[in-house]
Amino acid sequence: MNMSLNNYIYHEEAGLLPRAKGLCCRRISKAKVLGLLVFVGLALFLLTLSSPHYDMNQKVDSGARRRILPKVTDYIDPANKVRPGNSIGLHHDIQNNIPVHKKTDLRQRLPQCLIIGVKKAGTGAMVQYLKLHPDIVIADRELNFFDYERNFKLGFEYYKTLMPPSYEGQITMEKTSNYFHNKDSEWRVHSMNSSMKMILIVREPIARAVSDYLQRKLKDKNTIDLTPTFEELIIRPKNGRINEGYPGIRPSFYYKHMLRWLKYFPLSQIHIVDGDNLVRNPFEEVYAVESFLGLPHLITQDRFVFSDKKGFYCMSMDGFNGTRQEQCLSKGKGRKHPDIDEGVMEMLTDLFRPLNQQFYKLIGKSLTGKINGSYSLNTKI
Ligand code: A3P
Repeated sequence: MNMSLNNYIYHEEAGLLPRAKGLCCRRISKAKVLGLLVFVGLALFLLTLSSPHYDMNQKVDSGARRRILPKVTDYIDPANKVRPGNSIGLHHDIQNNIPVHKKTDLRQRLPQCLIIGVKKAGTGAMVQYLKLHPDIVIADRELNFFDYERNFKLGFEYYKTLMPPSYEGQITMEKTSNYFHNKDSEWRVHSMNSSMKMILIVREPIARAVSDYLQRKLKDKNTIDLTPTFEELIIRPKNGRINEGYPGIRPSFYYKHMLRWLKYFPLSQIHIVDGDNLVRNPFEEVYAVESFLGLPHLITQDRFVFSDKKGFYCMSMDGFNGTRQEQCLSKGKGRKHPDIDEGVMEMLTDLFRPLNQQFYKLIGKSLTGKINGSYSLNTKI
């Protein structure tokens, strides 16, 4: 053993110490200790923020992806001093079919009801129809607040500034059709208001996917260039299987997305609209939404007039001098769909049939959609 003094150093208090080879015996400077403390403190602070038990009344979560249920601590709107959900299901005069709101206290409020999707299932039509109700105000565009992290980070007070002003007793709504299939929206909505009411419109999933494809192809373009075709995008050339990763088909997996929402909200808070029936009988579906929201039935049947030119229902609006004017949805709604290859249709049908059955079980009812008469969600399997 080498006992040479070179292997030792003299320390004022401790006397002779072995010369340090590692950290154990090195003197750590005050600056380093301070730095370490600051680092630990910062780490603890960040951990608290991302904890599911962090009180989100004042701050919006930084967007860390949660897979566990956050504690229910709804955002308290400082101006309202009530949980946003509390003003829904109002007390007065529903029986007598008169508006439930009084013209008092006009200001911006957070939404108490969201139309969460699904994209290309008739969400635009529903918005236009619900605007006919005097107790409903709806943000005039999709705000993508819960599905875009950078928007969500701006906080609930920011979100409120995007809302139309409403009177006390009116229901404020927002529609973003991507919320339903976005995998963060459900917990973010829950963190704002666990009593939130939601409207989900679903449509026969293959027709929805074709509509989604058309939207992607024709968005802001006048050209009708459908290349690559729907079939080319939906089938993987390598193995001839369905390309489930195609973004145009993703929202159609209703069962999968619904499972996520039901982890956070009871089914009673999500009203499901039959999008195919919405095309055939908008009055029936709108009536059911009014009931769900606890509102008087003020959108009357005579508001819906079928337009032969459009091939869809349009709305009858008050015009000048007591006249009525027909108002249809824009050109991008109600597009003609291309014929889809029969083999591809069969594959898609086989894919969606069991998924829809599971979805129906989950929501406790089945829907009525048909695609070109060749596929029905009600088909006996
Ligand atoms: P298509 O264009 O494929 O027919 P969204 O508003 O969610 O994007 O949905 C668009 C779909 O709304 C349209 O899809 C159409 O089928 C449906 N729709 C329901 N009622 C309608 C109406 N009154 N006018 C036009 N489209 C309507």
